[in-house]
Amino acid sequence: MLVKVKSFALQGLDPVPIDVEVDITQRGLPSFSIVGLPDVAVQESRERVRSALKNNGFQFPTHRITVNLAPADIKKEGACFDLPIAIGILVASGQMPTLSSDAYYFVGELSLDGSLRDVNGILSMNCFLYSISQNLEAKSSPIFCFPAENIHEIVYSQLNLLPASSLKEAIDSIQSEHYTSQLPPPQIATETENNDDMKDIIGQDFAKRAIEVAACGMHNLLFVGPPGTGKTMLARRIPTILPHLTFEESIEVSRIYSSAGLLSKKGGLIQKRPFRAPHHSSSLSSLMGGGTKPKPGEISYAHRGVLFLDEFPEFQRHVIHALRQPLEDGFITVSRVHSSVQWPSRFMLVAAMNPCPCGYYGDTQKNCSCTPSQIQKYQAKIQGPILDRIDIVSEVLRVDPKKLLKMQSSEPSSDIRSRVQQCHEIQKERYKEDCFHYNAEMDSSSLRKVCKLDSETEMFFAEVSRKLSLSGRGHMKVLKVARTIADIRASNTIQMDDICEALQYRLRTED
Ligand SMILES: Nc1ncnc2c1ncn2[C@@H]1O[C@H](COP(=O)(O)OP(=O)(O)OP(=O)(O)O)[C@@H](O)[C@H]1O
Ligand SMILES: [Mg+2]
Repeated sequence: MLVKVKSFALQGLDPVPIDVEVDITQRGLPSFSIVGLPDVAVQESRERVRSALKNNGFQFPTHRITVNLAPADIKKEGACFDLPIAIGILVASGQMPTLSSDAYYFVGELSLDGSLRDVNGILSMNCFLYSISQNLEAKSSPIFCFPAENIHEIVYSQLNLLPASSLKEAIDSIQSEHYTSQLPPPQIATETENNDDMKDIIGQDFAKRAIEVAACGMHNLLFVGPPGTGKTMLARRIPTILPHLTFEESIEVSRIYSSAGLLSKKGGLIQKRPFRAPHHSSSLSSLMGGGTKPKPGEISYAHRGVLFLDEFPEFQRHVIHALRQPLEDGFITVSRVHSSVQWPSRFMLVAAMNPCPCGYYGDTQKNCSCTPSQIQKYQAKIQGPILDRIDIVSEVLRVDPKKLLKMQSSEPSSDIRSRVQQCHEIQKERYKEDCFHYNAEMDSSSLRKVCKLDSETEMFFAEVSRKLSLSGRGHMKVLKVARTIADIRASNTIQMDDICEALQYRLRTED
């Protein structure tokens, strides 16, 4: 008898519906084979399914069993096909009645005792099935049977859901058609205790303002300064001034973590903007994503949050170079022989560096011991095209020792965060019809609409642009930053002062 059961394979973030076809025939020698480009974990499913069936009081058919995972040209990875294969065998061998609907979708890894283990990507599958159920032309509403351990990943509970902790429980609920409608309320991720606060930083008003402007418009930011002036300290406090993710952003980010099995069971959806700080020895694939079984990289884990690259010039040259495309496009495509996978990577790049190998070039107190060629070689590690993509460059200079000794604390993160939040709200309203959310992501047609200057400011900006020989991109970046500065003032029009401040943040990249 031939039975078809539906399941999913994950391609990057996207679930692809898979037909699990199980054929049991009495002709030929007893065997159990799985075809349709399965990887080792899928092949091993034979042993798990056999034991799970036997240990739950079912017969494992001693006939010729063929399982085909269609379409056969998509690589199938992981153990999520255990449950659909087991259900297919039970129906095909007559130990379970035929499924009442063809809208059942099964995913789950089986233990040898028949209990169901969690799998990756349930959140994406839930979103996919929800979009199918919203299609009015669909014949029947989908029924989703998945491991109960993944229940914290369900955001759309309007579907027919069958969370099960074991094979037996899955079969019972299929037969009783008892769908779960009452899910635990969506959990708010528990915040890890972090005592960092902007008020710890003494002085550095220019750098703090640069951080605030960058956070308001999600602009890329570079700190340059001698050792020990507080660059790392400033960057690590950026998460404390960033507002939480919106619901749509939270789903986008959580789907990335869910596809890699990194969504915390206790935490639920990710609410806080990610902050990722990979070490400068990181490899290209750990940053960009990839590997034989493609996994997202740090740039995707930092999606909608911050990617902090400390000691920026120490990263391998080709790693820095590879940032160019995702910084521009907001996504990365990794191609393999069998597949091509795309992950979102719309992050705010925050980088920190010393101005030279010894660190003291331009310092007011200590002499730099580097030769001009050493300085030039060091600075050239951050190539022009990367610098061109950084909207705000802030120098972090020595703080007056008298000020340091006073230990006067400054504005707390909570006050700055409320201003950033207001600024995000303004942008949300302005870009509600567009496919982007923040000033830094603005396209050129929106730029023309929302960055209009009065004639005096326009003449001034044209003159300064010419003197500084700003590139086309540099020109646009100044306008975007000026738009953010005007938004902080809650003003619709960009004024001369906004342009002047935005230009200050570019001076270093143009000299
Ligand atoms: N402005 C400041 N206010 C308060 N503490 C500061 C300040 N600047 C530096 N510090 C102190 O100095 C320490 C070192 O700062 P930090 O690691 O941020 O320097 P850095 O600029 O990143 O140096 P490097 O270039 O060597 O990486 C901080 O942990 C903090 O204790
Ligand atoms: Mg540092």
